[in-house]
Amino acid sequence: MSTRSHSSRRQFLARSGLAGAGWLARSELARAVNTPAAPPRARLIADSTRRIAPLDRNLFGSFLEHLGRAIYGGIYEPGSPLSDSNGFRRDVLEEIRRLGVPIIRYPGGNFVSGYHWLDGVGPKKDRPRVLDLAWNSIETNQFGTNEFVTWCRAVGAEPLLATNLGTGTPEMAAALVEYCNVEKGTKWSDLRRQHGYEQPHRVKYWCLGNEMDGPWQIGHVPAAEYGIKARDAAHQMRSVDPSVKLVACGSSGPLMPTYLEWDRQTLEECYDQVDGISLHRYFGNDQETGGDTSKYLALNLSMDRQIEEIAAVCDVVRGRRRSGKTLWLQFDEWNVWYRARGPQFDNGHRQVAPHLLEEVYNLEDALLVGGLLNTLIRRSDRVRVACLAQLVNVIAPLMTNESGFFRQTIYYPYAWALEHARGTVLDLALESPAYRVPSLGDVPYLDAAATLDPETGAASLMVLNRDLEKARELEVVWRDLTPARVTACQVLTGDDLKASNSFESPRRVAPQPLEAPRPGARMTLQLPPRSYTMVSVAL
Ligand code: AHR
Repeated sequence: MSTRSHSSRRQFLARSGLAGAGWLARSELARAVNTPAAPPRARLIADSTRRIAPLDRNLFGSFLEHLGRAIYGGIYEPGSPLSDSNGFRRDVLEEIRRLGVPIIRYPGGNFVSGYHWLDGVGPKKDRPRVLDLAWNSIETNQFGTNEFVTWCRAVGAEPLLATNLGTGTPEMAAALVEYCNVEKGTKWSDLRRQHGYEQPHRVKYWCLGNEMDGPWQIGHVPAAEYGIKARDAAHQMRSVDPSVKLVACGSSGPLMPTYLEWDRQTLEECYDQVDGISLHRYFGNDQETGGDTSKYLALNLSMDRQIEEIAAVCDVVRGRRRSGKTLWLQFDEWNVWYRARGPQFDNGHRQVAPHLLEEVYNLEDALLVGGLLNTLIRRSDRVRVACLAQLVNVIAPLMTNESGFFRQTIYYPYAWALEHARGTVLDLALESPAYRVPSLGDVPYLDAAATLDPETGAASLMVLNRDLEKARELEVVWRDLTPARVTACQVLTGDDLKASNSFESPRRVAPQPLEAPRPGARMTLQLPPRSYTMVSVAL
């Protein structure tokens, strides 16, 4: 490798698909041979005419499942002094409203595949307590579709409803669309009005089931069978409301033995009826990385790869069907999740709101979440909706108890994306020294994403420094723009990659101000080791 020229290096990167992520890399090995020992500077070129796509805010959605304490004790706690007259936790609601989460998926997840939505509507005193088989928990049904939509409107989020295609039928999925979206004069719309909701909810986004490729999923069937059911459900749902956006279940991750083949077979059956396909992915610093943080922080590049692979399958099916329609991708579950996972963590022992999947996040998790957000931003040409899984208490950025909440480490990169990533995504050229990860090739130490909002004249840059030892200098060259002011410059970093937050130490890991670079057409950023940085400029 050390004898390769830079141009063959670029060809190699292009062939391996890595150059498409918006950067160019030089390996440490090549550097050792060709250049003196000082770490080379990295350089990033931004040009307002080189754009990837308009940023769809739905890229920064989230997810709430009837699981553990996400709903009960998370967003809904009637009787608590912290709750309003609807039973909604005011502190949590305010926080999510302030964050500006644009879209929230509900009610599952695995839960939805055994869920009867009729159990969760109507007078609360008549709603049944049922056994939820997905999480072996008791579901009281005191919170259901109407409460969720009301709560969503209060936080300013769009609801993204999943239908039950496990034990549920296409007929009942269409009935739910009618219950939610038809104004009046039909069986299900009149039932909604009888339940006290005169106006239709106008739910636009729908998932056709959840992880139907997984043997753990209630109602799991082979791909072609699911594809036929999804097609029928989509057909019936669209007959009720032609404006709905429908997303079929894709593979629940690249490690599935049916990965890509599931997606192909499903889409062969329902391509014409759906608007998109779902992707799921959870990352961990575990067997895959051997606990090596350098490898762990490179894993967002495998999310890039997953997006490319699923997009390729969609486009093969499009070609085979001679279809004029391109599907979008919906990454409707993504996060770090590996500690509170497995049989001892997912059994609710038939309790109401048990403590399940209460993953504690540390600094390195937050850095990877920053990288994953960079990937989603860079892939906004194809990924239109994405949901951080989940939002409260269950693998979540927010953790509650009866007297308040605290923010986990992963909250911060997510909050930055929500606040600062706006407008159009720029196609950056990033030259960065790199290190080698066998499964991923040359991994650049720096990973960046940027947006430009022509309306407000603001540009924002998010940079992950994967170097665990060294600070890295980054020269930012604005080709055709001259930033006049740096309006924000913050960094998430620390000495202890394993540090986390808790009720006792809620700000052990939190953003710190970073010395702002001098504004101008060339700006130099000093990026601390093990860091995720956000810089905003006014043009
Ligand atoms: O988000 C937790 C679980 O992970 C979801 O219920 C399921 O869809 C996925 O396997």
